[in-house]
Amino acid sequence: MHKDIEKIIFSEEEIKNKIKELANRINNDYRGKKLILIGILKGSFIFISDLIRAIDLQVQVDFMAISSYGDAMESSGVVKINKDLDKSIEGQEVLIVEDIIDGGLTMKYLINTLSARNPKSLKTCALLDKKERRVIDVNVDYIGFEIADLFVVGYGLDYAQLYRNLPYIGVLKPEVYKK
Ligand code: IMP
Ligand code: MG
Repeated sequence: MHKDIEKIIFSEEEIKNKIKELANRINNDYRGKKLILIGILKGSFIFISDLIRAIDLQVQVDFMAISSYGDAMESSGVVKINKDLDKSIEGQEVLIVEDIIDGGLTMKYLINTLSARNPKSLKTCALLDKKERRVIDVNVDYIGFEIADLFVVGYGLDYAQLYRNLPYIGVLKPEVYKK
């Protein structure tokens, strides 16, 4: 375990199994259809790369990079698009892939922005959901794990841009935040 990690919440094995479960649901729901996965950078890059390999459909991938957090731990609700999609999603089946839903403002913004581009369908997927932190109602179609009000890192999720490389999801030792 990394020296800054206090506790592992989800192991590599648990994440792997959960991704199989999510992909099975997606495969069933979109059977016979073409799907575009929209990965939200940077947090979802590891999740989406494992998810897409478990999807057995005609599937494309595109990315959007947004920022709302800076290097702090609270969402501002102000979202900025740093990189937009390469292609139009008009008339297509679209699935937004996020790392985590916290207050819900980021996902709400994404749903509003992307539904205005007239996709055939628009659904949402997040590996983690901090349901009790929600400040705005937002529909998440595929959720990996519900978690308590904890700040987590690893498997793509960062604190101050670090720890994304950890293969598991864990909680940092309190002294790490004091640095
Ligand atoms: P929301 O707009 O409050 O739902 O914030 C969602 C975004 O905040 C996610 O895409 C993450 O980038 C970030 N975030 C929220 N909670 C955590 C966490 O526990 N660890 C790392 N990033 C988080
Ligand atoms: Mg994010």
